Amino acid sequence: NIQKATNVRFESNHVTRDKRAQILGAGPGKGFRGCTIWFTGLSGAGKTTVAFAVEEYLVSHGIPAYCLDGDNIRHGLNKNLGFSEQDREENIRRVAEVGKLFGDAGHVCLCSFVSPFVADRNMARNIHQKSGLPFFEVFVDTPLEVCEQRDVKGLYKKARQGLIKKFTGIDQEYQKPEHPELVLKTASVPLEESTRLVLEMLRENGIIP
Ligand code: PPS
Ligand code: ADP
Ligand code: MG
Repeated sequence: NIQKATNVRFESNHVTRDKRAQILGAGPGKGFRGCTIWFTGLSGAGKTTVAFAVEEYLVSHGIPAYCLDGDNIRHGLNKNLGFSEQDREENIRRVAEVGKLFGDAGHVCLCSFVSPFVADRNMARNIHQKSGLPFFEVFVDTPLEVCEQRDVKGLYKKARQGLIKKFTGIDQEYQKPEHPELVLKTASVPLEESTRLVLEMLRENGIIP
């Protein structure tokens, strides 16, 4: 049992978000652009592919961006977590807190996680909203049949064989987003168009020029 810390208080940094934006080269009139783009969807839906493409575009245009990806975060920060409902919740909670820090530091943070539960994604949204950071939920809406057909990592095959338990879409549920800011249909829309739609969303919300 972990004893929770009690004798702690919040210490406010002296550096403002505007000041951070200045050193990140935000330029006159553009200001602070910290935010989080949260990609959710089945394994194989295209979360990593789209998130990495957007990250690459932003960085190559001088906009600080960093993608936190489920597979990668589970090699480090969250290597002690599995795929039970509880562990997925803790996975999302930690990542949302890290996303908040990236956003606070002035970065566009991209998070690509299956994040199958509405309550967990709403928690991630609340963590950002409480900090005054824009949060964009992007539903990478690819039918299970297409994801299984792609089977990029051979995981669906293993899940069907019963070698992987609690696999999203097979023996654990995926709860579709109720009010996502954006839906990407990767089965019928090319990667370039999905990337463009994400960038357009950022432009419409004054994150990028
Ligand atoms: S979650 O639900 O947000 O906590 O999952 P996430 O951290 O994104 O990790 C998903 C990646 O782990 C691999 N994998 C599984 N996915 C779903 N269900 C089960 N049981 C599972 N076991 C392993 C898989 O590579 C996922 O990555 P993506 O990119 O989605 O395929
Ligand atoms: P996830 O991270 O959601 O598991 P990945 O990005 O790893 O998904 O895998 C998606 C796969 O689908 C990749 O092999 C990618 O090349 C392919 N793919 C085919 N069409 C598209 C598309 N329009 N958008 C994104 N990915 C696509
Ligand atoms: Mg991925």
